[in-house]
Amino acid sequence: MQTKIEKIDSSSALAVKIIEEQEYKDLEFLSFREKLSFANISHPDKKREWATARLAIFDALQQLQIPYPGFFKDEHGKSQSMNGQGFVSLTHTLGFAGAIFHREQPVGIDMDLIREKILGIGFRFLDPQELNFLEKDPAHYTMAWSAKESIFKCQGKRGVSFRENILLEPFAPTDQVIKGKIRGTDFADHHYAVEVRRLENVILTYTIW
Ligand SMILES: CC(C)(COP(=O)(O)OP(=O)(O)OC[C@H]1O[C@@H](n2cnc3c(N)ncnc32)[C@H](O)[C@@H]1OP(=O)(O)O)[C@@H](O)C(=O)NCCC(=O)NCCS
Repeated sequence: MQTKIEKIDSSSALAVKIIEEQEYKDLEFLSFREKLSFANISHPDKKREWATARLAIFDALQQLQIPYPGFFKDEHGKSQSMNGQGFVSLTHTLGFAGAIFHREQPVGIDMDLIREKILGIGFRFLDPQELNFLEKDPAHYTMAWSAKESIFKCQGKRGVSFRENILLEPFAPTDQVIKGKIRGTDFADHHYAVEVRRLENVILTYTIW
């Protein structure tokens, strides 16, 4: 399986994998609870995405020489480490899955395919200030969407609206960092710096608290 692993610093790493048609023989590292969750996914594509994201965390952890602790989903849907140590975030999109791990800080990661149709739904997830600075370019819009997903996943709580509560500072389509903040909720006034990468026709973003 093709994998790209990036050690960000001594505390954090990320891995991105291409999702392939394959039998999952190498999932022995999963916890009992995770094996049950995997068995309960019936759709073959979803099964592959789920498994590839877990293989990605496994690889990111290996890079940091941390044994796989097993993860469970909290009441918001965010994955938490079973031994209470470290922070993880997962993503999957058509053909790719990725994960990021940090020893001490909350993290968020997201991958999205660049699609023309995102231009038609901007009003749903963008504030008027953001609509003003974004070019009518699907890649630029996808960067904004993905940055908001990463910020959302980093804070982890349901009930945070992309349009109302996550505001991005102006950025250019070539920028590799997007700054943003959460406003108008209990979790406000934290400023995020979101890293941006482009892999073929996919935008990858991640942020570390
Ligand atoms: C839940 C949500 C973050 C998932 O993102 P997505 O782009 O659809 O899917 P991704 O593949 O990138 O991410 C899925 C992973 O997000 C993680 N996730 C789910 N809820 C989460 C939360 N509250 N916090 C952090 N991570 C979460 C899970 O690990 C999941 O992977 P898994 O099911 O394999 O465990 C997203 O759909 C969502 O609910 N966003 C907020 C709602 C919103 O405002 N939407 C836009 C309005 S226009």
